[in-house]
Amino acid sequence: MESFETFEYDVLVIGSGGAGLRAVIAAREAGCTVGVVCKSLLGKAHTVMAEGGVAAALGNMTNPDGTKENDSWKVHFVDTMKGGAFLNNWRTVEIFTKEAPERVLELEQYGAVFDRTPEGLIAERPFGGHKYRRLNHVGDRTGLEIIRTLQDKAVGVGMTVHMETTCTRLLTENGRVTGAFGYYRDTGNYVVFKAKSVILATGGWGRMYKFTSNSWEGTGDGLMMAYEAGAELLDLEMIQFHPTGMIWPPGMRGILVTEGVRGEGGILRNSKGERFMFNPKYMPDLYKGQFAETEEEASRWLEDKQNNRRPPELLPRDVVARAIYREVQDGNGCEHGGVHLDVTHRGEAYIKRKLPSMYEQFHAMGGVDITKEPMEVYPTVHYTMGGLYVHPETCETSIPGLFAAGEVAAGLHGANRLGGNSLSDIIVFGKRAGEHAAAFAADHAFGAINDEQIAEEQDYLTEPLRASSGESPYVIHQELQETMQTNAMIAKTEQTLLTALTKIQELQQRAKNIKVAGDRYFNPGWHAARDVRFMLRTSEIIVRCALERQESRGAQWRLDYPNREDATWGKVNLIACKNGDEVKIVRRPLPEMPAELKALFEEGK
Ligand code: FUM
Repeated sequence: MESFETFEYDVLVIGSGGAGLRAVIAAREAGCTVGVVCKSLLGKAHTVMAEGGVAAALGNMTNPDGTKENDSWKVHFVDTMKGGAFLNNWRTVEIFTKEAPERVLELEQYGAVFDRTPEGLIAERPFGGHKYRRLNHVGDRTGLEIIRTLQDKAVGVGMTVHMETTCTRLLTENGRVTGAFGYYRDTGNYVVFKAKSVILATGGWGRMYKFTSNSWEGTGDGLMMAYEAGAELLDLEMIQFHPTGMIWPPGMRGILVTEGVRGEGGILRNSKGERFMFNPKYMPDLYKGQFAETEEEASRWLEDKQNNRRPPELLPRDVVARAIYREVQDGNGCEHGGVHLDVTHRGEAYIKRKLPSMYEQFHAMGGVDITKEPMEVYPTVHYTMGGLYVHPETCETSIPGLFAAGEVAAGLHGANRLGGNSLSDIIVFGKRAGEHAAAFAADHAFGAINDEQIAEEQDYLTEPLRASSGESPYVIHQELQETMQTNAMIAKTEQTLLTALTKIQELQQRAKNIKVAGDRYFNPGWHAARDVRFMLRTSEIIVRCALERQESRGAQWRLDYPNREDATWGKVNLIACKNGDEVKIVRRPLPEMPAELKALFEEGK
């Protein structure tokens, strides 16, 4: 075994996006020592890609007649369950919708500077699937403002930060987590973090797809470390395709175009100029009668949100993404194979004030002035609803001492996440994870660090450096992205999924034989070798779960099983866990929602 540096913390947080930082604050306030591991730099996280706002029912917005919009946690609860196609854990959603407003106000106390209403309250904008205006925002830079605020606060409460450090294995003793093992990305030197409890806040895993809003860190490390340690994963088939990513120029493909554009009145049109979201074939039964049916009605909504129905561009993301996909498949795609998103009618000053990043992004990168011409957009892989099973109250995974919050955790969003719910997710459950991990640390002594596990991981990591010949991890990654993009994208069938699975299995065999030149020092190829093996296993589980769920629900769109099967599939989550070298998938009944919460759906009608 090679030498390693050791650090000891009551609570170790892996991941420094919004969920990780909110967990740090909570654990520090509970009196714990806290170490934070960042794969890249502090504050560089997918949190910034939630641009349009943080969803919480503050009810700040005023109707034209002077009354307040009638928002409440109950309406937010109903919207989130409906948006998630009822695959959400009801208790997780209840906690979330009740606690989100307080957490947003707390961000303001920490120093976040939100846009204001004329009365001086936090401004809230409409978003897909949200009945009322509840996206508390800072122009189109909300995630950035939140990460800046949490970072300031976390630095203030004190933490030890380990930047550019990759964790590759959780260390366990008799089933309990006792720490994590990893390496510094610059020197390649090894490091062990000994901890009484560990919080995974490692985000999602979009990088196995070719076009994604995720940046290079999103390779599923946290998810797979937990899987390897025996944790249960939930509904991995549920991958969100955000309806609007950039499609042109090629180097920008997949970059997010915030839903805030549609929230501010943005209109989708196909190459024939048709506002296709009005086509009744795109309107799910669940939402019939609740959305505008004509352009005239939709434009009245822009003026008077009280008495009119929302434009259909504000249907939940899964619905809009499918519609765009179908338009393009039907030959109605625009110049570069996407559709047009037009917000020019809002005028230059308004666009530059409310959507400054979008203006700059298209102007600087695409040569498009969005105040004068439409953007071209196409769905992009954005978010993973599935993830680690966590207890709704405590955020503890199925491994004692291991907690998870944010995108890596599952249960809140069901089969489809509503925009803006990710930012409130990280502050609500980041805090809870921090508190409960701190409580666990207070009740437990440090566990033992197992040298065999460390030696085994070191051996595994350095195999590609010792090999005399073999495959490039980059080629394997590229082939994985091709197959996932082609065969496990928005629309799937048994045939496409089996094609993906066969290819993944072939790549897994080839990945046993990766060769990387050089040594551990400043070696991105070596990092890629570990990343790609995590991504291969994650992809395998995504595809196996998508095959298993023989229905269409939320983000899972099976052309060969086009219906939502509420009586059967609507009652179960898919749990995946490690069974030797195999992935075991079982169906677990969803917890029954109590009668008083069921009644909210009737009240809503
Ligand atoms: O479109 C957006 O601004 C993204 C928000 C989110 O993913 O929650």
